[in-house]
Amino acid sequence: MKDLVSIIDTKKYVGKTVKIGAWIAGKRSSGKVAFLQLRDGTAYFQGVIVKAKVRDDVFILAKHLEQESSVIAVGVIRKDKRSKFGYELDVINLELVGESHDYPITPKEHGIDFLMDHRHLWLRSRKQHAILQMRNEIIRATYEFFNDHGFIKIDSPILTDTSAEGTTDLFETDYFGRPAFLAQTGQLYAEAGAMAFGKVFTFGPTFRAEKSKTRRHLTEFWMIEPEMAFMHQEESLEIQEQYVAFLIKKVLENCDYALDALKRNKELLKKYTKLPYPKITYDDAIALLKENDFKISWGEDFGSPEETFIANFFESPVFILNYPKEIKAFYMKPHPVRKDVVICADLVAPEGYGEIIGGSERAVELDYLEEQLKIYHLKAEDYEWYLDLRRFGSVPHSGFGLGLERVVTWIAGKEHIREAIPFPRTLNRLFP
Ligand code: 4AD
Repeated sequence: MKDLVSIIDTKKYVGKTVKIGAWIAGKRSSGKVAFLQLRDGTAYFQGVIVKAKVRDDVFILAKHLEQESSVIAVGVIRKDKRSKFGYELDVINLELVGESHDYPITPKEHGIDFLMDHRHLWLRSRKQHAILQMRNEIIRATYEFFNDHGFIKIDSPILTDTSAEGTTDLFETDYFGRPAFLAQTGQLYAEAGAMAFGKVFTFGPTFRAEKSKTRRHLTEFWMIEPEMAFMHQEESLEIQEQYVAFLIKKVLENCDYALDALKRNKELLKKYTKLPYPKITYDDAIALLKENDFKISWGEDFGSPEETFIANFFESPVFILNYPKEIKAFYMKPHPVRKDVVICADLVAPEGYGEIIGGSERAVELDYLEEQLKIYHLKAEDYEWYLDLRRFGSVPHSGFGLGLERVVTWIAGKEHIREAIPFPRTLNRLFP
């Protein structure tokens, strides 16, 4: 309907009569006036209907509208300091488009399972709307950042015949009589892309059949995986921190309304745009944890308590460098001096949000990778194409993967990752 004006644009129409297609998010009324909370997907604002100024049937309709009925409202835009949005609609006419009765999500408190069962409707709520608008901004800013830095996007396959991040958490499916796996990462294909195009990124859904039931894990999540040829790890770390700071800046610039709806501390977010981010080696992190009474030995991976402690210690996103080889993936470049560690880094977010990026410089030597495949019990023939990248003009290259939902959860300041994706898939949830 071309003649409709979006709520977000109404500031351009002060004093003018406009037509708005909206749903009723809430309502208050007395005998003489009705206040309608209108939402159209772009924003929320109030429509005011004064009985004395409209036809009787219009006022009766306004009084009887139930939550989430859809309407076309015609009225005059007025600036209003008292309103959070800043503008209101003085309604002249109202037309019912679609009825709604007994909408299940009411302003009262609902349990999380109930809300998740009604995720298809919960998306309409103000906070969910704010989080997903922010997600959209982060996606938009991702394309902007990588386009501006000379990357091209390449799409990696979702159906694959190999594993890249370990064989324990693969989703298996039947591919015409033989097994196939849903991709855990697009990285190996991104490496092929980097050798063809120099700087590339993949951005797609990735899958982990992890039986972890934590507030940070999804079984289906979206990952952004840049891969750069002729690049060592130090330069990759610079790109990583610039990218994360850029995402935060863009959310601060373009999602003010959403940040307010979520009551997110903007000053704190602003602090996270300060570069460079601190760096600590895995070895030093182990020492720091031990000094602070953590029971952990060299060689063990960090869990949520350890990551939270380290990032809170620095009060900033922090890179943890060079983990033990045994706990990382087969493709990482071995340290030139310390044979027991690899050239890698995880970027851990503050405030308890944990790892948001995992990345590394990649091993370039054919012999080394062939040996690694044996150690990791991976079938060499499945990786022949990947080894070709080392046979034909192998170059130093580095890359990383940023988990979109982890970053959205952090920037939005939410407790749980399940609200950072429209329809989350977790250990116990495949519906709706
Ligand atoms: O550290 P990960 O497993 O790294 C990779 O997959 C590499 N291939 C990336 C690369 O170098 N191209 O995962 C990268 C990021 C994590 O830091 C985290 O943000 C996110 O992906 N992630 C998850 N997000 C939600 N749920 C899960 N189960 C996740 N597993 C990883």
